[in-house]
Amino acid sequence: MCAIVGYVGQAQALQIGLEALERMEYRGYDSAGIAVVQKGALHVEKKEGKLANLLEQVDHIGRDNFTGTTCIGHTRWATHGRPNDVNAHPHVSFDGKAAIVHNGIIENFATLREEVENAGIEMTSETDSEVAAHLLALAYNDGPTAGDFEASALAVLRRLDGAFTVLFTHCDHPGTIVAGRRSTPLIVGVGDGETFLGSDVAAFIAHTKKAVELGQDNAVIITADGYRTTDFDGNDVECTPFTIDWDLEAAEKGGFDSFMMKEIHEQPAAVRDTLAGHFVDGRIVLDEQRLSDEDLRGVEKVFVVACGSAYHSGLLAKYAIEHWVRVPVEIEVASEFRYRDPVLDQRTLVLAVSQSGETADTLEAVRHAKTQGARVLAVCNTNGSQIPRESDAVLYTHAGPEIGVASTKAFLAQVAANYLVGLALAQARGTKFADEIADIYNALEALPEKIEKVLKLREQILELSKELRPVKTMLFLGRYVGFPVALEGALKLKELAYIHAEGFAAGELKHGPIALIEEGLPVVVVVPSPTGRPVLHSKIVSNIQEIRARGARTIVIAEEGDAAVEPFANYLLRIPNTSSLMQPLLSTVPLQFLAADIARECGNQDIDKPRNLAKSVTVE
Ligand code: F6R
Repeated sequence: MCAIVGYVGQAQALQIGLEALERMEYRGYDSAGIAVVQKGALHVEKKEGKLANLLEQVDHIGRDNFTGTTCIGHTRWATHGRPNDVNAHPHVSFDGKAAIVHNGIIENFATLREEVENAGIEMTSETDSEVAAHLLALAYNDGPTAGDFEASALAVLRRLDGAFTVLFTHCDHPGTIVAGRRSTPLIVGVGDGETFLGSDVAAFIAHTKKAVELGQDNAVIITADGYRTTDFDGNDVECTPFTIDWDLEAAEKGGFDSFMMKEIHEQPAAVRDTLAGHFVDGRIVLDEQRLSDEDLRGVEKVFVVACGSAYHSGLLAKYAIEHWVRVPVEIEVASEFRYRDPVLDQRTLVLAVSQSGETADTLEAVRHAKTQGARVLAVCNTNGSQIPRESDAVLYTHAGPEIGVASTKAFLAQVAANYLVGLALAQARGTKFADEIADIYNALEALPEKIEKVLKLREQILELSKELRPVKTMLFLGRYVGFPVALEGALKLKELAYIHAEGFAAGELKHGPIALIEEGLPVVVVVPSPTGRPVLHSKIVSNIQEIRARGARTIVIAEEGDAAVEPFANYLLRIPNTSSLMQPLLSTVPLQFLAADIARECGNQDIDKPRNLAKSVTVE
């Protein structure tokens, strides 16, 4: 949700800043902008819409005209104020000397705005961010911090409420950026004679693998020679450096036409890497977990909190954990969780699932759970992000960077990690024998190879999506673990193709939704294995017949060898055999392709950046 980048060094800052923005654009693409500090002046360019519009504007001016070696940049996901040129960042102070970029929400903005306006300054944008630029100039021009850029910027940071990362520049100090953060991310990249800032490491991975993550309410002052970290009062603080363990290639498209397609194809590796190292000498080991077997034995209830696709992964966790561990599992979308006064205590384990580790709703749910005394275990894909930092323990998914806004590989990795948590609970509480746990783990381990096979369905799905055109609405049905898969399939289609899609538990159909079925309506049906629980299979075969009889065009996802569905399938997508609980890791994949291909058939070519969305939703 918005990305900020910063650079101080020897090279042309514009080039480095724009490249960084390109890699960060998945976080927001309502507008983009850059401020280059050069020859004691600021050169600011910003433009509504995707980064391509800004690039065109900069090319029109001529890139050679930007000679400065310091810059700050921003891509926006609009919160306060419409997405347009004026509301785009950077924002410049009334005297034209200071510029800022901001990610997050300044909650006391109304008070600050009034103060700025009382000082005779006219606000030009509708954003909450612009006040920070004016406050910086006011502090720098007059009063106790006059003439001191660093002290002025820190004074502004101390005045802000809410969640924010702000980068400050001033044209009197062309080789310095001051930045600070609270509850939204900021990472420093440490190069040789150059220093970088980014909302995540993708901003500077092309230049350095040495990084430092800022803690809560920390500030940083960067120059070409290095960085200094402080609190908002200017006292030195220690921040832990780390080495980035993925490379530039992982953040680039690698020959695919979109990040989403690349990430769908990376799913075998995402699941394999998430499982790796967690079954040692016949035992499930959650090494990053920091919860003892005794803690796990004491758990009387599990509560899963998450949003969107992560929530769907949590629904699957409920089926698995209740079946393997025999403890009740509740699940709730994180945005509703804390308003409902959920029943939690020290014996509740809250599983907070989040790819980004930044989702505001999930973060607030974690905070609420902790105030109620519950233990929180985060399942997260982003090292060192806020949710794992505030949780008691973390189990990382190892899906690698997910750039496509619609979650694919992170979702599958979340399901695998949630299942590992279930197995660890079953092991600690003795609800499964060691050989049963080994069997389930082996079934998980066999999945990457099976996912490879499912990826071969791509061509068939491409053809199918052409035949389905035009699609106005589409339904998805599933039973048991097929139900969350149906929800996930519908979500993917909504967000990518912008068409109405709904997922239902197949059994609910006759309680209302069957009224939606009309001649030609495409309905996807996720069919459970005929060898797992036969009763599930036969019931869904009846459901397919019911909708076919009413004119639906059925797109059936069924296991190889399942002959019973053949007479009722207009289109049949075959997936390999696996046990019931494992099937979602296979049956979700064709639905990801389907959503992407239908989206393109419907005219959305840029499936990596669906309209109105952002990768990390850092506002509630
Ligand atoms: C859907 C999607 C979103 C995210 C949700 C949670 O394709 O990507 O629904 O799953 O916004 O995000 P994280 O996992 O980062 O908390």
